[in-house]
This record gives sequence, structure tokens and C-alpha cells, in this order.
Amino acid sequence: MKGVEIKKDIYWVGAKDWNLQEFHGYATPHGSTYNSYLIMDEKITLVDGVKHYMVNEQIERIKSLTDFSKIAYIVVNHVEMDHSGSIPQLMKLAPQATIITNSAGKQALEAHFDTTGWNYEIIKMGDSVSIGKRTLTFMTTPMLHWPDSMMTYVKEDKLLLPNDGFGQHYCGDELFFKDAPREVVLHDAQSYFANILYPYVAQAEKALQTAASLNLDIDMIAPSHGLIWSGKEEVELILGLYDKWAKGENKGKAVIVYDTMWGATEKLAETAMGVFQDAGIPVSKYCLRTHEMSEIIADFPDAEYILIGNPTLNNQLYPRVAGFVTYLRGLAPKGKKGLAFGSYGWKPGVVKQIQSVFEELGWQTVEPFDEKYTPKSDVLERFKERVKELIALK
Ligand code: FEO
Repeated sequence: MKGVEIKKDIYWVGAKDWNLQEFHGYATPHGSTYNSYLIMDEKITLVDGVKHYMVNEQIERIKSLTDFSKIAYIVVNHVEMDHSGSIPQLMKLAPQATIITNSAGKQALEAHFDTTGWNYEIIKMGDSVSIGKRTLTFMTTPMLHWPDSMMTYVKEDKLLLPNDGFGQHYCGDELFFKDAPREVVLHDAQSYFANILYPYVAQAEKALQTAASLNLDIDMIAPSHGLIWSGKEEVELILGLYDKWAKGENKGKAVIVYDTMWGATEKLAETAMGVFQDAGIPVSKYCLRTHEMSEIIADFPDAEYILIGNPTLNNQLYPRVAGFVTYLRGLAPKGKKGLAFGSYGWKPGVVKQIQSVFEELGWQTVEPFDEKYTPKSDVLERFKERVKELIALK
């Protein structure tokens, strides 16, 4: 395995996790990659590590280009262990290297690993480090999505190395977006944003504004997961999408999420779907028994209307619905219109727990709707009216 040149004297030396199907609860049907970059300048600089179990792949790629004793700097943009897991072993091979990170990064490294003897250069927002012909400039992006998160910009190559930002959990033979199936990768980029960065949209907007104010000239964005955005057109495409997602601009779609025990809640879900179809509103319907939570959330940036349906079990939310609502509460997407619905046997009103989460998220809502046992045609007609009330919200 060798390093692959992405710009003159800058090489991808990451690892491809073809078989990854799950990333801390997030389904990753297309695997993922942990991208790392080696800059062959006067002071040879490695940017980011990989997951611990893929360290040998990274080492082999680095060895195809240089001896570890020649590495001067290791930039740690982010300490989550999919990017830092290999750092202890790399530091054993290159003990002379200085780690460039911010103060939160240093603290996090020390909290994860035995860092005895490691040298650091601690940077702040906007600091630069010369590595020879090139200057690296660092943009700290705290809580995008960890306190330590930062991005590295290589001015001479118009190259942004943003770590998690602009990434996708996608693994293929390709390194560049232009060589990959476009719609699949764009979907994976949207899914990544929704499942990882949704809680931090305010920070994302701020980072985009900061980048705009710094007037960075970027013609390549090489994230730490998935494929590289190359050329102005692709850079503008992914920056534009992030801007739209961060601002909560959607495509006016409806997403119906539910589970069902004996088909009653499913009947309501199908009824709601019909109302949206009749109104010419694009709609997706997901039963939690067959769809992963992360797959459903990937659709949320496009959605204006979210409906969550619950079959009451033992006077509580159905466990899969409760799990989804908990996940949603943490991701906290803004600016949606919500309707909670469901069925019950003897305790009405459990769907109000879903409604309270909608309210906590600041969504517009209409009155929750639930029905005892199986909804008959008159009930379905009343439910249709409730869905229409949701659509009528301004
Ligand atoms: Fe890809 Fe936040 O780690």
C-alpha cells in the first residue's frame, strides 16, 4: 500500500474501512475512510491519524514516502479516536515529531493516551506555522463537533484539511468525488451532516462566516472521511450545501416515522402519507422496525414536516419510537413542523411525550392525535384534517 498524491508533494496516507457498518450508533452501509495527509516539505508534516485498528495501513503508506525519523510535525485536528487512535503508535515511530494542536486538543490527547514525552506546539485561531515552502494556517472550530476540532489550511496549495467537516461515511476505490457515484456521495454527505453535525449548526454557520471573512482561496477540500472535493465547482457545491443545511433551508418534504404493533399506527401513517401525496408534497415513510435511525435522520435536512407515530406499549412510548425520539432530541434539528400521532389500548395521551420534544426543539406543532385500538374511517377522516392543519401552518 502506498501514499497517493493529491497535490504536488501532498499525499493521502489514510486507511479504508471497507467493512465498517456502524459508527457509534450510526449505520454506515458504504463503510468509511480515515483520511490522513502527508506534506513532503522541508519539515515533513503529517495531518491526522486513523482509527487504531487501521494503523498498519497508515504506517505502510507513510513508509512508501519517507522514513518516520524525518517527520517534523503531526497535526492533530481532532482527538476523536477515529482520527487519533493511531497517534500513540505514530509517536513511538517518530518521537522527535512535534504535535501541532490547540489547547483543547492537548487536553483531550492527555485524557485519552499516555502522552509522556510528547512535544507540542499549541496554536490558537488564525495562527500559522511555516514548514518550508508552505505555511499552514489553523482555524479552530470548537464544538464542530468536539471542543478540540480545528481545520488546517495550506495557503500555497489552496487546500483545506477540515477533518470531520464536509466528510462522508463512504468507502470506495476512488479518492476524489468526481470519480464516484455522485448522488450516492451527496446523500452520504447529507447523512453525515444530519447525524454528526446537526446539533452544532450554529457553530457550522459561524465557521462558514469566519472562513468567508478570512477570504480563504480554496480549490480543494480534503476531509478526514470519504472523498475529496476538488476544483472550485465542487468546493462551492459542498460549501453551498453546508450553508443551506446550517441555515435549515429545506425542500418542503414530509417525513413520517413510526412503529406499529397491530397495524393501527401504520394505518394512520399511510393515511398521512396520502394527504401529503394529494397535496403534491414529496413524502417518505419509515417504519422503525425496518429502517435504521440514522438512515431516517439523513432525510431530515430536506423535510419541512415531521410526523412521528407511536403504538402505546405498557402505557409508554414504544421502545423503538422512544429510542428515535431520544436520538432526535440530541440532534435537535431546528425549524420543523411536527405532528405526533398513534394508537393506544387503554391509556391515551402517551403521544404527548413526543409533542413535548417537538416543543423543546422549538418546532411549530398541531395538537397530537391518538386513537383507541384500530382507527375506523371516521377517525381517519379526522386525522386527515389534522394533517391538513399541519400543512396549513405558516
Ligand atoms: Fe471523525 Fe469526530 O470523528
